[in-house]
Amino acid sequence: PAPGWSIAADVVVVGSGVAGLTAALRCEAAGLRTVVVTKARLDDGSTRWAQGGIAAALGEGDTPEQHLDDTLVAGAGLCDEEAVRILVTEGPDAVRRLIETGAHFDESEEGGLELTREGGHHRRRIAHAGGDATGAEISRALVEAVRARGVRTVENALVLDLLTDASGRTAGVTLHVMGEGQHDGVGAVHAPAVILATGGMGQVFSATTNPSVSTGDGVALALRAGAEVSDLEFVQFHPTVLFLGADAEGQQPLVSEAVRGEGAHLVDADGVRFMVGQHELAELAPRDIVAKGIMRRMQEQGAEHMYLDARHFGAAMWEHRFPTILAACRAHGIDPVHEPIPIAPAAHYASGGVRTDSRGRTTVPGLYACGEVACTGVHGANRLASNSLLEGLVYAERIVADIAAEFAPGAADRSGDGPHARVPAPVEHPERPAHPLLAPEARFAIQRTMTDGAGVLRSAASLERAAAQLQRLHSEARDALDENGKTAEPGVDTWEATNLLCVARVLVAAAALREETRGCHWREDHADRDDADWRRHIVVRLNPDRT
Ligand code: SIN
Repeated sequence: PAPGWSIAADVVVVGSGVAGLTAALRCEAAGLRTVVVTKARLDDGSTRWAQGGIAAALGEGDTPEQHLDDTLVAGAGLCDEEAVRILVTEGPDAVRRLIETGAHFDESEEGGLELTREGGHHRRRIAHAGGDATGAEISRALVEAVRARGVRTVENALVLDLLTDASGRTAGVTLHVMGEGQHDGVGAVHAPAVILATGGMGQVFSATTNPSVSTGDGVALALRAGAEVSDLEFVQFHPTVLFLGADAEGQQPLVSEAVRGEGAHLVDADGVRFMVGQHELAELAPRDIVAKGIMRRMQEQGAEHMYLDARHFGAAMWEHRFPTILAACRAHGIDPVHEPIPIAPAAHYASGGVRTDSRGRTTVPGLYACGEVACTGVHGANRLASNSLLEGLVYAERIVADIAAEFAPGAADRSGDGPHARVPAPVEHPERPAHPLLAPEARFAIQRTMTDGAGVLRSAASLERAAAQLQRLHSEARDALDENGKTAEPGVDTWEATNLLCVARVLVAAAALREETRGCHWREDHADRDDADWRRHIVVRLNPDRT
């Protein structure tokens, strides 16, 4: 649809989690005219739900090199080592800058940061806040800083598509805004640099730890814009999500890895610690190994869930260290002080995303990506616990350094007139076919299809079934558009369903192609890791002239 209003800026940041707001603050500090657009409210994304913490070599005796080793092992042979090196060496200072921005982390009695452990880490290196409310504290601090520094924000603004100029460079984004007064309806922010920080796509599955806004909007936008997307098959399933029934749908309460980091045991209904003997780190093995261990035990015993037993913590430790999880369990009638917690794996994190280089640049000039939406190469086939907040921080800062070098006042830009002369003129593409929009109810059909066919355990047959069902949904919407020019009424729900379908189709195609088991991609018909054929990435680029 044609934009009804527009704003001009140097940079538009799409999304308001740790990556987006860090980028926005640094852009503002660099003197760039910055606009943050976000689909709901500023603190509605995944960041605020993060529990365990943020990993960095901050503890005595720890080094970036050791953090690098743990990250590479978790990534199962597919990490970009240089990208990881950047993450782990720039990480500690990035966390210190976050603290300077106003985030308060828990401190030990000696006064330094209190650090915990999580799966795959050989050391205590996870900084946390409010016990198990790390994301909430980071979000609070960043939102407050953005407001205090007067960064321009537009809430309730769902990003639709990328605008480009005649040379194919980024020229801004179109948006659908609801309830923001002068900026209601479809509009545009014109800017020569766009930073995608839209988060993940957990809502592509029925049960996920992700909030309802995590619908893959950034990856879908990038695909429609012809940017490269990589590693979408590597969806991480968090091992310990509170089990609320086999039919539970939508966002489910997380039980942080840090609970295991502090000594909780995974047990079956007979109280047997089934991870012991499966891996040297037992319950603290990398996340994919623990999720598989749980799923195998569930299959062997015909059980719907396993248990996490932390009764030995006692009430005082539960209340002090894990108040959020304690409250969530109690709200569902489970008291972890007196009984084991029923848990099962659920979709948690997209290790893949929009492909970037080490400066956060995508394959479309002027389009950047950071945070969960991006595939910087640091996660490989399986993200190491608590590396995600860190990645958001480090790569957001790198992106801003890149943009500032090109656009900031005083920088030698191509026009020679400073950034304000750089607002590009977007071109229209009347020849491009209209996108068929899905009815909002399609969201549930997509989620069921994905959970059945492309969930924790996959096979050629299950993926083929999923691909056919997704194709049917696409064809129905396409036919409706072709036959009577009608498509579902544009709106946030229809765009979200449309984006979910777009990313689900690519995810399923990549998962079908990868005929091996590696990291968080588990194929029952190709049970082994195949380094000879598959130590490589699946990179997808769609043709913007086709739907
Ligand atoms: C958790 O607290 O278990 C989540 C940490 C993460 O996803 O990195």
